[in-house]
Amino acid sequence: MTGPAATDPWDARDAGDPSGRLTVGERVVVRYRLPQGSEAGATDVLGMLRSRDEQDLVVDSPFGQVRIPRRDVVAAKDVPPPPARSGPAHTRIGIADLELLMAKGWVATEQSGLGSWLLRSAPRFTGRANSALPVGDPTLPLERAVDFVENWYRQRDQKPMFQVPGPVGFDPADDEVGAHLLSRGYAAGVGQSRGEHVRVMTAPLAALPALTEQSPPVTGDARLQPEWLMAYGESRTTVPGITERVLTGSRGQLFMSVRDEGSGRLAGIARMAIHPGWAGIFGLWVHPEHRRGGIATALVSAVAMAAKDNNMPSVYLQVSGDNTGAIAFWEELGFSRHHDYTYLAPADA
Ligand SMILES: CC(C)(COP(=O)(O)OP(=O)(O)OC[C@H]1O[C@@H](n2cnc3c(N)ncnc32)[C@H](O)[C@@H]1OP(=O)(O)O)[C@@H](O)C(=O)NCCC(=O)NCCS
Repeated sequence: MTGPAATDPWDARDAGDPSGRLTVGERVVVRYRLPQGSEAGATDVLGMLRSRDEQDLVVDSPFGQVRIPRRDVVAAKDVPPPPARSGPAHTRIGIADLELLMAKGWVATEQSGLGSWLLRSAPRFTGRANSALPVGDPTLPLERAVDFVENWYRQRDQKPMFQVPGPVGFDPADDEVGAHLLSRGYAAGVGQSRGEHVRVMTAPLAALPALTEQSPPVTGDARLQPEWLMAYGESRTTVPGITERVLTGSRGQLFMSVRDEGSGRLAGIARMAIHPGWAGIFGLWVHPEHRRGGIATALVSAVAMAAKDNNMPSVYLQVSGDNTGAIAFWEELGFSRHHDYTYLAPADA
């Protein structure tokens, strides 16, 4: 791969102060010195970083809230969500945790929380960025939580839409939120032909093919270039001003591309989102004239290379259940289905 290396964004900040690398709201591990005279010299705490000011970090740990003077921090980093089951890292993450992680890879222009539910708006650009993600506890009874979401979208002149995740092939009627929405006159499968679910697929980094001498050269750029955006616009409808903000809205992202030497134009693109322990692939597209020539494989190999450099052992993506060609491609590369989601919106929307 040519171009700038994928820098690990939380390693680049505040080089002298490890606590400066942490992200508020993320799961973190912090090693810090104990007061003089303590039996152990230092200890570790694992939990969610609640806040950070000039002096202290506050971490919500399973044993309560811990306030740590920043000058005592020896080492610190963001870490992936905890495992929900046994197995390799790309399968053991829970559905809600992976959904919340993926939401950080595709950040809407306006976001709000309702407990752990996420409300997102990015006018007319993608279902994901214009839907509520109802995972975890909304801190209100379900009916009132849905009222709240409907009102939030009404205030923005938008129809409410919910992105409801569940196990592979799930029936939304078997999901608590899904069943409630159906009882309120919502329909499932909105925006997908034949009402297919969207598949969330994951793979271990180790399974992905490496770049070879035969691979077309891939360029990686931390900035969104107009040329990349133009190619992206060939693959889907974009909304000037909104699309750019969503594409660049994550904490870290890389824009990969392969150039067609003949025409000089980009023949294939992909966007990589960077998370603790995970890489996400978005917007993979190869110009129809250049398909089945290994360009998409090279783009994914370049993502894998950047993920390896940044210590991200797992990779995720989302693909519409009716996109049979792309599903065959991802399966060929070693991805398997982690879970599904579907959109529910009022039937008259
Ligand atoms: C899916 C897509 C990215 C594949 O790009 P590509 O450059 O043609 O893929 P590759 O040449 O690297 O394919 C590698 C292998 O994947 C499989 N594959 C790729 N496209 C396939 C298809 N349409 N049907 C079945 N298998 C396919 C094949 O096994 C292929 O190897 P082969 O050509 O030797 O048989 C391309 O078809 C595309 O841009 N589609 C539209 C956008 C899209 O759906 N993106 C994915 C969103 S999740």
